[in-house]
Amino acid sequence: MYKVAVIPGDGIGPEIIDAGRMVLDAAGEKFSFDIEWEPFDIGADRYLATGELVTEDDLSDLSRFSSIYFGAIGDDRVQPGILEKGILLAIRFAFDQYINLRPIRMLAGADTPLAGKKPEDIDFVVVRENTEDFYVGIGSRFSGTQKTSLEVLRNLYSVKFGLDIQSDAEELAYQIGVVTREGSERVIRYACDLAMTRKKKLTSVDKANVLSDIYGLWRDVFTSTTRSYPGLFTEFTYVDAVTMWFVKNPEWFDVVVTPNMFGDIITDLGAMIQGGLGLAPGGNINPSGTSMFEPIHGSAPKYKGLNVANPFATIWAGSMLLENLGEREAAAAVVSAIETAITSGVVTKDMGGTGSTSGVGRFVADTIRSS
Ligand code: IPM
Ligand code: MN
Repeated sequence: MYKVAVIPGDGIGPEIIDAGRMVLDAAGEKFSFDIEWEPFDIGADRYLATGELVTEDDLSDLSRFSSIYFGAIGDDRVQPGILEKGILLAIRFAFDQYINLRPIRMLAGADTPLAGKKPEDIDFVVVRENTEDFYVGIGSRFSGTQKTSLEVLRNLYSVKFGLDIQSDAEELAYQIGVVTREGSERVIRYACDLAMTRKKKLTSVDKANVLSDIYGLWRDVFTSTTRSYPGLFTEFTYVDAVTMWFVKNPEWFDVVVTPNMFGDIITDLGAMIQGGLGLAPGGNINPSGTSMFEPIHGSAPKYKGLNVANPFATIWAGSMLLENLGEREAAAAVVSAIETAITSGVVTKDMGGTGSTSGVGRFVADTIRSS
């Protein structure tokens, strides 16, 4: 018996989560475990009604769970950034979910926009650092009315860095990226361990040629950490170049490890090459704490309640949740049932089909039960 917290969230979140739960329940029947779901009312509606994003009480309730199943957040009535930072990032940070695991795998039957590439060519994993870098939220914005702050910053720049930046600037903003040895080491170690169970190839993605302080440290940690993995092939790439290689030679990659922001960007690219955002799951993992599994797409408010959203990313995220609970066989059965649905043409409109969210979910669930 597992207890799983559920945050359906906004927009299409509740529908895709319902489909996902149906599938995981079927996996439980087939592989003899039970899931007790505990829903949490966190999202735009509650925020608009009460002003609450994620409260201390939510966090202490959620901390009793090892897994959270998360739908999507984002709502047209709320200014962009508030729910994303106040809910999704708040949970990732509160539970120190330092690994953002994003498989880039073209499933059987899926369509990639990359000409001539087949499922065996597109099968790697991006391990995105999930707590540091430019996501730490340290920054400020100064306008012309805050002359003193502007002066202070200008002086700081010229005294400390010998720079004379726009001495007539009336408005100025800055944002700081933070990388620590400890924060890098734990995620790089996780990526190394993962690579050792796969093709033993690990690629670091950074921008150490320009942001040489933070990513110079990242590279040092990468070099020293990977040294203790004999047989592991390692390489450094720059983020701009890696976007080319993802498109041209996805078959080169096995495990890719990268700081937070580049990880955000390259996994959207990865999602497209594996067949679209509707097929891209992610896990926010703290190996010794509370982990959270979600589709990497958003809440698509305009499709809310229409029962047309593609549930595959959420179902696949559910498979990652099962894997994280140690239910390996069940996890694999879920992904293979998604492949059966795709190859049978039981897919939603975005993938060229006529299936509904619940219909596709039910088909995947039935496929698991009868396998
Ligand atoms: C993602 C999303 C989030 C991120 C946003 C919604 C905060 O883009 O999960 O990739 O930037 O991490
Ligand atoms: Mn993103």
